[in-house]
Amino acid sequence: MTYPLLVTKRMTDFPSDSHTLERYEATGGYKAARASVGMTRDQLVEAIKNSGLLGRGGAAFSAGLKWSFLAPARPAYLVVNADESEPGTFKDRQLLERDPHQLVEGIIITAIANEVHRAFVYVRGEYPKPARRVQKAIDEAYAEGYLGKGIFGSSYDLDVVVHLGAGAYICGEETALINSLEGLRGEPRLKPPYFPAAVGLYNKPTIVNNVETLSNLPHILNQGIDSYKGLGHEADTGTFLFSISGHVKKPGNYELPHGITWNELIFDIAGGMRRERRLKTWIPGGASAPWFVPSDHLELPITKDDTAKAGSMLGSGAVVVMDEATCVVRAAERIVRFFAHESCGQCTPCREGTSWLEMILRRIEAGQGREVDFDLLLDVSDNISIGLAWPPRMTTICPLGPSAVSPIISITKYFKGEIMTHIHDGGCPLPA
Ligand SMILES: Cc1cc2nc3c(=O)[nH]c(=O)nc-3n(C[C@H](O)[C@H](O)[C@H](O)COP(=O)(O)O)c2cc1C
Ligand code: SF4
Repeated sequence: MTYPLLVTKRMTDFPSDSHTLERYEATGGYKAARASVGMTRDQLVEAIKNSGLLGRGGAAFSAGLKWSFLAPARPAYLVVNADESEPGTFKDRQLLERDPHQLVEGIIITAIANEVHRAFVYVRGEYPKPARRVQKAIDEAYAEGYLGKGIFGSSYDLDVVVHLGAGAYICGEETALINSLEGLRGEPRLKPPYFPAAVGLYNKPTIVNNVETLSNLPHILNQGIDSYKGLGHEADTGTFLFSISGHVKKPGNYELPHGITWNELIFDIAGGMRRERRLKTWIPGGASAPWFVPSDHLELPITKDDTAKAGSMLGSGAVVVMDEATCVVRAAERIVRFFAHESCGQCTPCREGTSWLEMILRRIEAGQGREVDFDLLLDVSDNISIGLAWPPRMTTICPLGPSAVSPIISITKYFKGEIMTHIHDGGCPLPA
């Protein structure tokens, strides 16, 4: 299958000056922001709603619909979520580093659409270079009069502040991020009442959107809704950034339409498996997502609905590919260890359960697993996410706890034999 060049570009193929204002303006940059100054909130919200743009931060919620929910009280705030800490996710990093003016333009459009005069870009602490690039782009936009008092010669004022996080995954969850911005502990808030669109930053109405979500906006306004929709699948419009990592020949960020199959993504686009090994399993949407296997999912079209029907999610587009030499117990243990480490500790099932899962997996991997450990893994998981259903049933304030259950569900469903061999043979059967 061939794809239009525009949407198969690897982001590393971008020109080396793609982050500069000169390059951005030479390719039509800030045209959409300029035009949006003359538009009303209703016009902008309707346009983005009709474009079908879904949030790219993981939950895939309609961006236009979210904006329409913003409570009328003012001031209201915009918070750009650039925390990007999910294992396997690295798309926002390249957008921040290589196309920061595109994000600044998206911020201006979103601010006007939501009558916001102050926006915050919350960048994860481990991203100093992306943060510097965004700060520089913001400084340049101020110098040109695109930000600050009376943007583009209008009477609209807009200030943008970059804030560096301190390196906690949980601060990517929107209410924990808001807490962190306020100088509080990075702990998720209860919803209700703390839906950001109603009670957000400083208890004011707040829009929280992902970097990639906002980076789509200039293109929607410039190209028009039909043309933007035409780039993607009917239900998942526009293009989507897939961050492919693991045992493929050509890992990287790829901008693609939905609707292609996993076979096409892994073998045609990412070059297939390294060292000509066989594909064993892959994570379709970041560490929180249940895994897929070749026998059941290779020919499945990559859409939000098809992935959900198959019991997983596309999340923020992080595809982690594992070959036949991968020990699934070790892979699951590594992911669960991450969630146990990042748990904020407010909810008992998450605080205790993630650590217990980590200990059981570590024991099995070390060759000290007991016959009962297989069922114990499922029992502990069931206490974190009742019924082990998809989407998970919540016993916790936020979805981090249930996320730790995804690798357990995956390996117990598809790789029971490999787990039991670890237990019976006293260790990993695969070469180290
Ligand atoms: C544990 C956890 C971590 C998250 N991390 C991120 C993140 O790093 N970046 C992000 O944009 N959204 C993240 N989210 C989703 C946000 O809460 C929120 O839904 C998103 O920023 C909304 O933006 P969008 O509608 O544009 O996708 C996370 C959610 C959870 C539960
Ligand atoms: S689920 Fe985990 S990370 Fe989320 S609020 Fe509860 S303890 Fe914190």
